[in-house]
Amino acid sequence: MWIRGIISSHLGVPGHRILFTEHHQSHAAAAFLTAPTRRAAILTTDAVGEWATLSVGDGERLANGSTTIRHFREIRFPHSLGMLYSTFTAYLGFKVNEDEYKVMGLAGYGRPTLVEQVRKLIHRTPDGAFALDLDYFEFHTTAERSYSLRFIDLFGTPRRPYEVINLDTTEGQRFADCAASVQRVVEDTLVEIAQSLHQETGLPDLCLGGGVALNGLANARILAESGFECVFVPPAPGDAGCAIGAALYADRIWFKNPDRDVPDHPFWGPTVDGSELARLAHDDDHVVEEFEDGTLIEQIADDLAAGLIVGWMEGALEFGPRALGHRSILAAPHSVEMRDRLNREIKYREPFRPFAPVVPIEVASRYFNLPPGGTRLSRFMSGVFPVRDEWLSRLQAITHVDGTARVQAVDAGMAPRLHALLEAYGRRSGMPVLLNTSFNLAGEPIVNRAVEGYATFLRCGIDVLVAGQTRVMKRSLPVARARVEKREEEVA
Ligand SMILES: [Fe+2]
Repeated sequence: MWIRGIISSHLGVPGHRILFTEHHQSHAAAAFLTAPTRRAAILTTDAVGEWATLSVGDGERLANGSTTIRHFREIRFPHSLGMLYSTFTAYLGFKVNEDEYKVMGLAGYGRPTLVEQVRKLIHRTPDGAFALDLDYFEFHTTAERSYSLRFIDLFGTPRRPYEVINLDTTEGQRFADCAASVQRVVEDTLVEIAQSLHQETGLPDLCLGGGVALNGLANARILAESGFECVFVPPAPGDAGCAIGAALYADRIWFKNPDRDVPDHPFWGPTVDGSELARLAHDDDHVVEEFEDGTLIEQIADDLAAGLIVGWMEGALEFGPRALGHRSILAAPHSVEMRDRLNREIKYREPFRPFAPVVPIEVASRYFNLPPGGTRLSRFMSGVFPVRDEWLSRLQAITHVDGTARVQAVDAGMAPRLHALLEAYGRRSGMPVLLNTSFNLAGEPIVNRAVEGYATFLRCGIDVLVAGQTRVMKRSLPVARARVEKREEEVA
């Protein structure tokens, strides 16, 4: 009721000049109008927005410069794939609307032995939609609980948030099996809906939007099984991306402004300043060096090959929940020890959560089993794909327990320095693949400016920090210490 007034007073614009899009309209616009396609089917899925939880339609950018986005049908609250998944997020003791990715990570440790039970909660309807059996849920009647006593009868005692998941126990395995089972049912449902959307539209391209499009396992199966040749997922398919979607919808559909390409990258944030880092680190007596571009890349490749962990800040901050190479922690992807060191000294997180690899797009298929269209889905890390058997032993730090990885395939046009760094690392290790995880500590947002990256660097096990052309090496490292001592001797 008060949204218009709140926006109006914050931005100082009269209320009648504020336009509203429907939530799934913004998801659809964010998915379609940022994708490099002129005509595509559109599928948006989330927990709920207004009343819609899933919508299907299509979009077209016409030669005369006009744009259409059509909405065919929608499924409404409380029948929601996002809410079904979130209910299991709550049941498994994680935070609803935030920790869904942990359920997906945990699924890799389980087997889908409880699929029949999950299918009691959701059934397909003759019109191709689905309905939840509301006896098992309570999210639609109270904000206190997601699931009912009947749900507990079916799946057993829920996990308490502070209980450690021990996968060596029957209890821990039951939780992993729950995660694997709901994951399987959500995937199956999405694949079937995408299949019928493909038959209905006959189009080769599909744009996916909404928070459920962050589920990389489901996206990979939609690509492989629905009949669409290419699946586009924007860098921020969740609600943050609705800001871009709403703006594009107003521009292209409401004001009928002529069609323009939206740049095909996620780097819309503030730019990092290497000289800011140099100033900060110099005052603290760390080893600070400024490099020419090519030399910097070679030096960082040396660091990574020597087993150092690198905080990498480059250009403009990513928009969306994935670190796509501008605010990343990079490391050698080969050993389990590296994964454990990152979990222990930097990310302080559950050991069942995998790290992601980054690889130049040209050679992505050499290391990962990508279906046709897989490199597009990997552009913004939107798909999970198997690591090729022959490389498993050398990619242990980025391979999930089920043999998969959430790959980012880097295009030199989108992130030239990261691409060059991968190639330089490949010349040293024989394999241009790095571990790439978001540059933040557990529970903190991704770093933005140099000062935030530097503060994080000081508080964790990152060895080397890069911002722009500046490289900082931690004073406590033996090599760095030797250099500082030498400099002090020279000064003396
Ligand atoms: Fe949403």
